Amino acid sequence: MANIYIHYPFCKKACHYCNFHFSTKLKNQSIVLESILKEIELRSDEIISPIESIYFGGGSPSLMEANCIEKILNKIFNKYKIKNNLEVTLELNPDDFSKDYINKIKNYGVNRVSLGVQSFDEFDMKLLNRNHSPYQSIKALDYISSLYDNFSLDLIYGIPYSSIEKWKNNIKTALEYKPPHLSCYSLTIEPKTILNYKVERGEIELLHEKLVEKQYNYLIRELELNGYKNYEFSSFALPGYYSINNSNYWNGKSYIGIGPSAHSYDGKFRRSWNTSNNIKYTKAITSNKLPFNEEKLNINDLYNEFIMTGLRKEDGVSLEKVRSLFGDKYKEYLIKQSENHIINKNMFFDGDKIKISKKVKFLTDGLSSDLFFIRY
Ligand SMILES: C[S@@+](CC[C@H](N)C(=O)[O-])C[C@H]1O[C@@H](n2cnc3c(N)ncnc32)[C@H](O)[C@@H]1O
Ligand code: SF4
Repeated sequence: MANIYIHYPFCKKACHYCNFHFSTKLKNQSIVLESILKEIELRSDEIISPIESIYFGGGSPSLMEANCIEKILNKIFNKYKIKNNLEVTLELNPDDFSKDYINKIKNYGVNRVSLGVQSFDEFDMKLLNRNHSPYQSIKALDYISSLYDNFSLDLIYGIPYSSIEKWKNNIKTALEYKPPHLSCYSLTIEPKTILNYKVERGEIELLHEKLVEKQYNYLIRELELNGYKNYEFSSFALPGYYSINNSNYWNGKSYIGIGPSAHSYDGKFRRSWNTSNNIKYTKAITSNKLPFNEEKLNINDLYNEFIMTGLRKEDGVSLEKVRSLFGDKYKEYLIKQSENHIINKNMFFDGDKIKISKKVKFLTDGLSSDLFFIRY
């Protein structure tokens, strides 16, 4: 697998909306880090040269000392062939920013930083329980944009009590830095999060769905006006700056996920995921065992995923590709299922590709599920 994802499962503080795997028991960092290095060794036969992308995600990988990032990268660089345009991304929390840190990781080979801004509004930061202020995001952006040709920032829309004006201001502030890439996510109320608990108890009122849609529509219009391609539902890039890691993922290429909870995919039928318990993970790796579960995807699963990711991408879903990957039966099924959506103009044909119309883009996931194959 030519794409490597490394999950660093620690955060200083729990954001109230997040259910990604992380622990705030920071004392366990060094043993997990040792295990991550060892897992790379143990799974060396799964890593296929040349490497196209390495992605440090989490959790908060910017909690790793710079020299730890150097160790991981050197382990990979010394053993595998690397593509010329290798992309090495690190997700950076604004509270972990320092000029010294950024200089060091750049020297060690991180050529793309993804900064978790979320919002430039103080109230939003508190509501989400972020561990940084808008001022820290600005300071980090000032420096990263001066040093890095390629960087990205994350924003969240649909935050409770937000408004279209606040969202416009977030986008305006972000665009002042001309980020080559932005990922903008709709706030999802995840189970077992404090946000979910507060919403259920009526302590926090959700933003009206229509306003969330308005924020999304403003986002896609404004970024397009500024030269960005909305190349995937939540992802925007200036030409030449599409994320290699994310694109490979959406294009069904294989990847290997290292670290607790990390997922891997062989590009065919097999998906696996590591245990998301940090202690179980380190115990297993220390005794040379790989702590994973796996599933075999059937043709219906693969078709459904192809439809979902395809409609989220600017490329859309090619009928010919569906035929060549899954056969005539699936192509015919897709034509039949999409018929009404084409008639009422929720979807349209661009050549042989089915795409979602702009006016209902916000509803992409719901619409694509109408095309899923559910007769098992
Ligand atoms: C899991 S975080 C890891 C990066 C880093 N720790 C950070 O917070 O910026 C990756 C992205 O997912 C977003 N995210 C996590 N949970 C989310 C949710 N419930 N709704 C929308 N975005 C979410 C985060 O805000 C962040 O931009
Ligand atoms: S959003 Fe990022 S910093 Fe916040 S808890 Fe999730 S992974 Fe940690």
